[in-house]
Amino acid sequence: MLTGEIIAVTSGKGGVGKSTVSVNLALSLARLGKQVALIDLDIYGFSVPKILNLTSKPKTMNGKIIPVESYGVKVMSMGFLVKGNDPIVWRGPMLGKIVEHFAKDVIWGELDYVILDLPPGTGDVALDLHHLIPNSKEIIVTTPHPAATHVAERAGTMALKTKHEILGIVENMSYFTPPNSEEQYFLFGKGGGDQLAQELHSEVIARLPIEEPNTSILTPSVYEPGSLLYDHYMTLGKTVDSLVKAPC
Ligand SMILES: Nc1ncnc2c1ncn2[C@@H]1O[C@H](COP(=O)(O)OP(=O)(O)OP(=O)(O)O)[C@@H](O)[C@H]1O
Ligand SMILES: [Mg+2]
Repeated sequence: MLTGEIIAVTSGKGGVGKSTVSVNLALSLARLGKQVALIDLDIYGFSVPKILNLTSKPKTMNGKIIPVESYGVKVMSMGFLVKGNDPIVWRGPMLGKIVEHFAKDVIWGELDYVILDLPPGTGDVALDLHHLIPNSKEIIVTTPHPAATHVAERAGTMALKTKHEILGIVENMSYFTPPNSEEQYFLFGKGGGDQLAQELHSEVIARLPIEEPNTSILTPSVYEPGSLLYDHYMTLGKTVDSLVKAPC
């Protein structure tokens, strides 16, 4: 059984940082003392195990799956269920089966938050998810570029149509600040997040800078204390926690 607040991280467009945001938001909520699950629902392009450098598969107990624990977060991914890099040939209705499998056959324990990393695409997956988990809330990730915003808007419109609550917009790769400088360079343009927020009657809840990955560690996309993005993600965790608790 999945308990707690379920938050789907979505975007419409590929490569804008959904998986990175999902992982680092889950970690920041765990660092705030919350019980957190992170479920990678990108069935064909799972990336959470790689981001967290997870090499062990989940164990089973009495026919139930024990999720892999990483940074205090309970993780499940399609990546644990396939061998090596074998392509997955399952089709559409698979998402429903996987959500059901992960919800029913995994020993989650009591949870405060469930973060769902969604694949790119606004169509089937988002719609299926609305159907499968009607009480889930959404965070929409976009870059500041107008093209990304335009596509993300479709994802958001879908959420609005299906009466899903949008917690807010995360504008990722908003700007770049060189080391030892205060200057902000808007490499991918400006204003995309605000535009999207306006169109979806929502708010920009984070503007995350571009930061070079730390390739000297095994998990370069996990932002550790001392990095710029660590502080941003801790703030995002606190924001999400307060938004969820705020009375509607
Ligand atoms: N703020 C950032 N600064 C620098 N690099 C970033 C930032 N956010 C994400 N990236 C990088 O951008 C790439 C795409 O990120 P990610 O895989 O999280 O996107 P995605 O939206 O999940 O992609 P997909 O649609 O393929 O699932 C990764 O290499 C990631 O490390
Ligand atoms: Mg992804």
